[in-house]
Amino acid sequence: MYYTNVPIAENVYYVGCNDWEMRDFHGYFTPRGVTYNSYLIKDEKVALIDCVKAPFADELLGRVRQLVEFDQIEYVVVNHVEPDHSSALPEIMRRCRNAKVVITSQGKLAVQKYFQPDPDYEYIVVKEGDSLPLGKNTLNFVPVPMVHWPDSMVSFMAGEDILFSNDAFGQHICTSGRFDDQNDLKIILFEAEKYYANILMPLGQMITKVLPKIKSLPIKLVAPSHGVVWRKDFAAVLALYEKWANGCWDDKVVIVYDTMWKSTDMMARSILDGVASTGVGCKLFKMSVSDRSEVAREMLDAAGIIAGSSTIHNDILPTMGGILTYFRGLQPRGKLSAAFGSYGWSGGAQKIMEQYLVEAKTSLIKSGLEFKWRPTREELVRCHEFGAEFGRKILEINARCK
Ligand code: FEO
Repeated sequence: MYYTNVPIAENVYYVGCNDWEMRDFHGYFTPRGVTYNSYLIKDEKVALIDCVKAPFADELLGRVRQLVEFDQIEYVVVNHVEPDHSSALPEIMRRCRNAKVVITSQGKLAVQKYFQPDPDYEYIVVKEGDSLPLGKNTLNFVPVPMVHWPDSMVSFMAGEDILFSNDAFGQHICTSGRFDDQNDLKIILFEAEKYYANILMPLGQMITKVLPKIKSLPIKLVAPSHGVVWRKDFAAVLALYEKWANGCWDDKVVIVYDTMWKSTDMMARSILDGVASTGVGCKLFKMSVSDRSEVAREMLDAAGIIAGSSTIHNDILPTMGGILTYFRGLQPRGKLSAAFGSYGWSGGAQKIMEQYLVEAKTSLIKSGLEFKWRPTREELVRCHEFGAEFGRKILEINARCK
C-alpha cells in the first residue's frame, strides 16, 4: 500500500486510519464507520500522539515512514489505553526502538496489564501541569479521568496551539475530509451527539469539571482521536458538550416500547398523542425494530423517558430488557420517567420497568398504567391524559431551567 499524510498544522500530520467497514463499536451501531486518529509531530524531537487499533498498525506505520525513520520517534503519547487507541502500541514499540511511552500513572498500569510487555517499555509518567518540550512546540498534559477511562488525559501543544483531545469531541465517522469544514457540519454534529450519548453520557459530572480547563486553553485546533479535526466550528460542539453535561434538556420525550399483540402499541400511540397535545415533542421507538444507539442519541436531549411493555412470563419483553439495561448503564440522571403496559392473565411489566428506571437514576412518576387484554376506548383516553400530564410536567421542569 502507498499511504499519504495530511498536514494539520506546521510539522504536524494526521497519520491515523479510517475503519470504513466497522459497524459495531462495542455494541454501538456505527453506520458511517470509525476512525482511529493518530498524529505525528515532527519537531526537533519527534512525537506520535495516540496509536490506532491493532489491525491498523501497518497502515499507521506506513504513513509515519513517509515522514520520519521509526528510530527518530522519541515519544509515543498514550492519552488513553482503550484498545481502539492503544492496541497497536506493542507493534509500534517493537518498530520504534527509541520511543518512550508518555502516559498517566493509571495508564501505565493499564498498558502493563493489557499488553504485558516483556521487556517492559520505558515510560514518562505525567500528571496535571507536566510538560514535555519538543523544540518549537511544547506538549502540556491535562489528565481528564473518566473522560473516558480513569487513565484518560488530553495533550495541549503550545506553539501551534493544538488540543489533542482523544475521545472528547470525537465522532464515529469515516471521511476523506480531515477537517470539520470539509464535511457537512450537521452530519458531524449528529455523530458527535451520538458519540456523546453512547460513550460519555454517564460521565457528565466529570465532563462539567473538565470543560472549564479546556476553555481556559488558547486553542486553534482540536484534534480528537475519532472523526474530524475541529478548525472552524469547535465552538459549536463545545456548546453542545456544555448543554449535555449540564443536563439542559429540550421539551422532548422519548417513548421506548415493545408489544406482543398490539395492545401496548395502542397505549404507546395514545400516550404519544397526549404528550404532543401539550406542545412537547415526542419520539416513539418500538424496540424490536429500533437501534438502541440511535435511541440513546434521541434520549440525550429529551427531558423525559416513557417505557412500555407487554407482560410475558411474568416479566418484560426481552427487547425492553435490552434497552432498559442500556439506559441503566447510561444513567440519564434526573430525566422524568414513567412506565406502562398491557397483560393477559397477570401483569407486572410496569413495576419491573419502573425498577429499571429508578436504577437508571431517572426521576420516576409512580402512577404508570397497566391494562388487561385490549385497552378500551376509556382506557385509551386515560393513556392520552397520562401523556398530557407527563408533557405538562416536562414543561414545568424545563421552565425552571430556562
Ligand atoms: Fe476511543 Fe475510550 O476509546
